[in-house]
Amino acid sequence: MKRVCIVGVSGKLGRHMVRHALERGYEVVGVCREQSVGKLDPFKDRMTIVPGRTNDRGTIRSAVAGCEGVLTVLVPWGVQQYATGTAEAVLDSASPGARLVFSCGWHVSRDGRDVYPWRFRAFLRVFGWLARVVRFADIDDQVEACRRVFASDTRWTVVRGSDLEEGESQGLPVWSHHVGDPVLRSNRTRRVDFALFMVEALGNDGLIHEAPAIVGCQTRSALARESPLP
Ligand SMILES: NC(=O)c1ccc[n+]([C@@H]2O[C@H](COP(=O)([O-])OP(=O)(O)OC[C@H]3O[C@@H](n4cnc5c(N)ncnc54)[C@H](OP(=O)(O)O)[C@@H]3O)[C@@H](O)[C@H]2O)c1
Repeated sequence: MKRVCIVGVSGKLGRHMVRHALERGYEVVGVCREQSVGKLDPFKDRMTIVPGRTNDRGTIRSAVAGCEGVLTVLVPWGVQQYATGTAEAVLDSASPGARLVFSCGWHVSRDGRDVYPWRFRAFLRVFGWLARVVRFADIDDQVEACRRVFASDTRWTVVRGSDLEEGESQGLPVWSHHVGDPVLRSNRTRRVDFALFMVEALGNDGLIHEAPAIVGCQTRSALARESPLP
């Protein structure tokens, strides 16, 4: 695989992904909102930047042309179904057979078998309601975006991130099928390692049609695991 596209590239996760992808020798194309292009100045000579909204089909179509992999950051910001529009644009425009890797949070469940702590559920309920009332974010939009990815016949992976923190890389996160599995209990991943998992997923066909929930490999619950990981 040579050429990859990062959709939503100007955010913190996106910029970490650029670094990992360049280190692995990928040719990188990135899409971000026009007003955010400046955030990519440190990389501007080493990547192609396509300014535009990530839910704009024309923008995505030109950015993903010729890409064998697409890394997409799905975010719940705003109330215009931005995440759903972004996912749809990528699913419809990517080259047939391309590896598609999407990011989201633990709250997205693929099969309804995730078991969430009550604090997590309470936070989601309150934050979700408040964010929608003040038109700041719509968590259900990210859920709907992932539902469409799960239903597609593309070669997708949806990476579900735990709570994130900054800091040096600790290595590739470990993952499990369901929130509630003991290995995930620490609920903490370095953002730089979330990005590493996304980029590594491009070359891992074992993750096709999986929705791994990830946790830092040096967290207490990851270190305490007894059984081999999936
Ligand atoms: N933050 C967490 O604790 C956490 C936990 C679990 C999972 N995740 C997942 O990790 C991924 C990255 O999240 P992050 O928090 O680290 O954010 P991030 O990487 O900093 O990215 C935020 C993205 O949202 C875009 N954005 C901001 N405001 C927007 C708006 N009003 N309309 C449209 N786009 C807007 C940004 O674009 P601009 O650069 O153009 O502003 C940027 O691409 C997401 O998929 C998230 O669900 C995050």
